[in-house]
Amino acid sequence: MSDGVQARLDALRAELDHHNHCYHVLDAPEIADAEFDALLDELIALETAHPERITPDSPSQRVGAAPLAEFVAVTHEVAMLSLEKTATPTELEDWANRCRTRLGEESLAFCCEPKIDGVAVALIYEDGRLVLAATRGDGQTGEDITANVRTIPAVPLRLRGDGIPPRFEVRGEVYIAKRDFAAFNERARERGERTLVNPRNGAAGSLRQLDPKLTASRPLTMFCYSLGWTEGGWRPQTQMEALEHMAGWGLRTNPEAALAVDLDTCQAYIDDIAQRRESLAYDIDGVVVKVNALDQQRELGAVTRKPRWAVAYKYPAEEATTEVLGVEFQVGRTGAITPVAKLRPVFVGGVTVSNATLHNMDEVARLDLRIGDRVMVRRAGDVIPQVASVIVEQRPKDAPAIELPQSCPACGSPVARPEEEAVARCSAAPTLCPAQRKEGLRHFASRLAMDIEGLGEKLIDQFVEKGLVHTPADLYRLEAGKLSKLPRMGEKSARNLVDALQASKATTLARFIYALGIREVGEATAQSLANHFGGLDALRAATPEVLEVVPDVGPIVAEKIAAYFNNPDNAKAVDELVEAGIAWPAIEAVADSLPLAGQTWVLTGTLERMSRNEAKDKLIGLGAKVAGSVSGKTAQVVAGPGAGSKLAKAEQLAVPVMDEAELMDLLRIHDAL
Ligand code: IVH
Repeated sequence: MSDGVQARLDALRAELDHHNHCYHVLDAPEIADAEFDALLDELIALETAHPERITPDSPSQRVGAAPLAEFVAVTHEVAMLSLEKTATPTELEDWANRCRTRLGEESLAFCCEPKIDGVAVALIYEDGRLVLAATRGDGQTGEDITANVRTIPAVPLRLRGDGIPPRFEVRGEVYIAKRDFAAFNERARERGERTLVNPRNGAAGSLRQLDPKLTASRPLTMFCYSLGWTEGGWRPQTQMEALEHMAGWGLRTNPEAALAVDLDTCQAYIDDIAQRRESLAYDIDGVVVKVNALDQQRELGAVTRKPRWAVAYKYPAEEATTEVLGVEFQVGRTGAITPVAKLRPVFVGGVTVSNATLHNMDEVARLDLRIGDRVMVRRAGDVIPQVASVIVEQRPKDAPAIELPQSCPACGSPVARPEEEAVARCSAAPTLCPAQRKEGLRHFASRLAMDIEGLGEKLIDQFVEKGLVHTPADLYRLEAGKLSKLPRMGEKSARNLVDALQASKATTLARFIYALGIREVGEATAQSLANHFGGLDALRAATPEVLEVVPDVGPIVAEKIAAYFNNPDNAKAVDELVEAGIAWPAIEAVADSLPLAGQTWVLTGTLERMSRNEAKDKLIGLGAKVAGSVSGKTAQVVAGPGAGSKLAKAEQLAVPVMDEAELMDLLRIHDAL
């Protein structure tokens, strides 16, 4: 059946597959998310109109399978093995020597790959289509998790390219990237939902869901690392060649995989990855070293569940158990009170850890943590160590519960915890609580904010405690003469600090906005605000409705920004900073180039196609101000049925008037509908 509909279906599916591959496999998107969504919407609409043409490998069919009653067992055609472990260069050398002796080879080449800390999964493709996904299980028998794995965007439902064996199995590791894990938990915490303990548990638990919709909501991805078996006669010669073919067929392979021509090169690879472990996007527990030539792998064979041709070089664990000695409550820049566990020092993933954040009291409750508990501490890439779980079985008798203090540990003001929020806060104004003041100043001076060199934590503490600095503007009033009399401060460092403060005054609007420390305004939002408004005055005058026009600014953030500038203390602090000489180069405001920029509009009478508020939002989105009364400065009045005095006033002042139909046309022209 070759007709227009089929041609469009084919084209849409091919295009969606391509962009999915660019985004999730190559990490190099070519179009915006919204454009992808528009294509997918079009496909779904077309498939809804022609349900008989839906194919199981259509990009629309990733989620959709009904929840299972239970998982079905799958017997692996070739057993999924585990790996022998090594942890020192000598052990690795011994292994390589055993391989060389068995093979009777002087030298061997290896393929080195990061050992991803996730869940092993086998995928079977038939005629290029994903037909089965299974867990490793005990190595012989796993479980059919096809419906769940289909929801992982990095797993192609159909392969691309040439030379695909008619039937083959590929193996790899399903995992959650560190950033995705942190973002998922952050959101879960905000919503008071369950957080994932660590990325590996998160991945394993997600694959074990009976309802694929749940799996689809978890940020899973996959690296494929080997071919299990192939049918059809073709076989690659080496592991590196297998990886290249897999990547060519659209499977996601790890770009860190590398050929090592000898053992020294392997060791250099292992050391290099160890160095970069923190900055990798995913958790690893070591490196897998494989004999590269596949016929040599076959010749070496396996002993009881472990191949002789590969070995895991394990790094020190990033998890360790220790004891919670107590809990301290720290007060942040916005007054947020964060419980921090004080730990018996423990060596985790290469460093000694003695503190771990507990985030908030909901997290303490979720962990069911008490003082004196033995806990599993985890150091993920993001430096702040976390308490992953409590070993409840080892809880000492009468271990005291952890309670939120009633008053701020820094200033004694009452602690408030709004019911719908997870975070408890010091109720004092930031200027009145020394902890908030210190943190606010730290943020102000930090690298991405005003970048004041040499103004570190200790100095700020001293300034606040001595009453020298109350607001950021006070920093610019510090004099070298007085500073040099402070302990640990010589004349030279005092001079340097004053110079650094002076230098920091030349900044950018975005940095300045970020430095103010407005709640919910991070670096990116500050940049968007600067681009949109171009100047501080326009930002300060903006109402929440106007702020919502800025990309990335939703209603909550808009409220926070407006509330910040409306607070007289903040307004004064900002004025003082500007008076102190903080300045930035002028930038062209996006707001000024909006089609209705600089125009004041008035809506009157009844609108039938949309509410007056909706119309107002749309006009604001196009840069207009919307006012409640008509004056000589009004650019345009929109009058619906029932318009009265405002319409009369407009006519009297010769202000142009349009009706709702004309408004709709205008909105349509500007893509605002
Ligand atoms: S190859 C014969 N390569 O480590 C076993 N395994 O102990 C071949 N793993 O559960 C495994 N990253 O899922 C291989 N690049 C990698 C790996 C890797 C992680 C896991 C694998 C298995 C375990 C083996």
